[in-house]
Amino acid sequence: MTVRLIGPGDLDAWSGMRRALWPDADPDELAQEARAYFDGPPALAAVFVAEARSGEPVGMLEVSLRSVAEGCRSAPVPYVEGWYVAPEARRRGIGRALMAAAEDWARAHGFAEIASDAVIDNRVSERAHLALGFVEVERAIHFRKDLQAGGGAAPAVRGREPR
Ligand SMILES: CC(C)(COP(=O)(O)OP(=O)(O)OC[C@H]1O[C@@H](n2cnc3c(N)ncnc32)[C@H](O)[C@@H]1OP(=O)(O)O)[C@@H](O)C(=O)NCCC(=O)NCCS
Repeated sequence: MTVRLIGPGDLDAWSGMRRALWPDADPDELAQEARAYFDGPPALAAVFVAEARSGEPVGMLEVSLRSVAEGCRSAPVPYVEGWYVAPEARRRGIGRALMAAAEDWARAHGFAEIASDAVIDNRVSERAHLALGFVEVERAIHFRKDLQAGGGAAPAVRGREPR
């Protein structure tokens, strides 16, 4: 397995992994965001892909630069926006290798910290972050209130969190 910066030839595989990570998000929007990484304007600063010996992409990690991040002392901060390994390839160190590549990239670009998050009930992500040296800095509950007539309509905006 190798980890490398993503290239235009990975677009379809990357979009597929994004759909698997965020099944409730609009697939067209996910693909558009991925295309924008190459064509601009990019929202992401760096994307890494893990490739099996067969050449098949089996994992990815996306990093943005956020102007603020909870618990961080510096700004901007490299922020892990997406981290995914195909189910059949998990627990073999691929997630760890992707995170190490992101950390190396951040260090090489002069950053002293890297930040990330996980939904509160994603115990696997929580354990993986802790195992890789991340420290929990905050827990949050996100709220939404509909300001249009009726108020009780189904949410129009969905979170971008893995199941
Ligand atoms: C989180 C994820 C990327 C980890 O990828 P991975 O390739 O399985 O991770 P690794 O094999 O490198 O594991 C690194 C360490 O994390 C911990 N870990 C990973 N999966 C774990 C699990 N299911 N249970 C407990 N600890 C786990 C272990 O300490 C592991 O080290 P070890 O295997 O030497 O004990 C992967 O589980 C995944 O894609 N999950 C679904 C998407 C997701 O939740 N992404 C995170 C969004 S915040």
